[in-house]
Amino acid sequence: MSTTELTIRARAPSNIALVKYWGKRPSLKTRLNLPAVGSISVSLADLWSETDCHIDSALAADEVRVDGEAAPSPFAQRVRLHLDLLREAARRPTAYLQVNTRNNFPTAAGLASSASGFAALTLAACSALDLTRPPEWTDGRWQQRLSQWARMGSGSAARSVYGGYVELYRGEDDDGEDCFAEPLAPRSHWPLVMVIAVSDTREKAVGSTVGMQRCAETSPYYPAWLASHAGDLDTARRAIGERDFSALAAVVEHSCMKMHASMMAAQPALTYLRGATIEAMHRVVDLRQQGTAVCYTADAGPQLKALCQPEAVAQVEATLADVPGISAVLTTPLADGPQIGPVP
Ligand code: PMV
Repeated sequence: MSTTELTIRARAPSNIALVKYWGKRPSLKTRLNLPAVGSISVSLADLWSETDCHIDSALAADEVRVDGEAAPSPFAQRVRLHLDLLREAARRPTAYLQVNTRNNFPTAAGLASSASGFAALTLAACSALDLTRPPEWTDGRWQQRLSQWARMGSGSAARSVYGGYVELYRGEDDDGEDCFAEPLAPRSHWPLVMVIAVSDTREKAVGSTVGMQRCAETSPYYPAWLASHAGDLDTARRAIGERDFSALAAVVEHSCMKMHASMMAAQPALTYLRGATIEAMHRVVDLRQQGTAVCYTADAGPQLKALCQPEAVAQVEATLADVPGISAVLTTPLADGPQIGPVP
């Protein structure tokens, strides 16, 4: 008997939040990983994670590789915990997997590698474990379930199981049943482009889970962040629906700066932005004041992300490449969605 089964490959897009998720709901079940706020994102076509999974009956534990090499232990452990959850759902407690994953962009530097990584892992592993849509469920409901599982690996991964514009609902239930992402609009609705100004690709010093907890416990601005969030989601949803760039730009930059203000007011301060990031923000605002449809955002890392209309791309790229300290500029359209299938 063969000890290995079919290898499944999933490719999932990274995503960048336009209205940010920052903070977790206090919950007895921490593994549910429930966000304190909802969020809205765009999925990116050219920054992705690709994960291969197959069950190997010779294994006594999951074997996790990154780019074909044994994964560092904290990452491998996080992957195994996630697979435990999926094995439990599949009722296959001893179905251990060979996992090989790769990103086509720098890992853990604020370019959303955990989002695309855990989405690709969830999609590939569910398929390898024969965890498929119950016949009485619609496709939409099954996608919500995949999004919920991805969320348990990393909050932002809940959004990477879709392309285009995506909303992750905060939900109210303690069991997380109403906390999942859904598509807001396909990329064809409004084909904006993301230009990413890379200044430093080293791994961030403080990961998002620790950073969120520190903010919740010590930042005097964190309660204000939570209290003002729902209005930002409403504004962004409407702006996307109506393709109203100036309304979107205002709320995207506001959500970003509120999140960073809350981070900086934590003790000790979380200063993810670097000098080059701030300078790039100024240049984006200057461009917009001269009439270019562009706005900025930044996550738990120094990379500046500029969202713009397709006709503004060349000007935005040139402007950001000119900022001292910016080492590369990556441009990507929005993604259609993940791809999944057997490896030929
Ligand atoms: O999914 P996590 O735990 O890596 O958190 C992501 C947090 C931000 O990237 C800063 C914001 C977001 O909504 O993606």
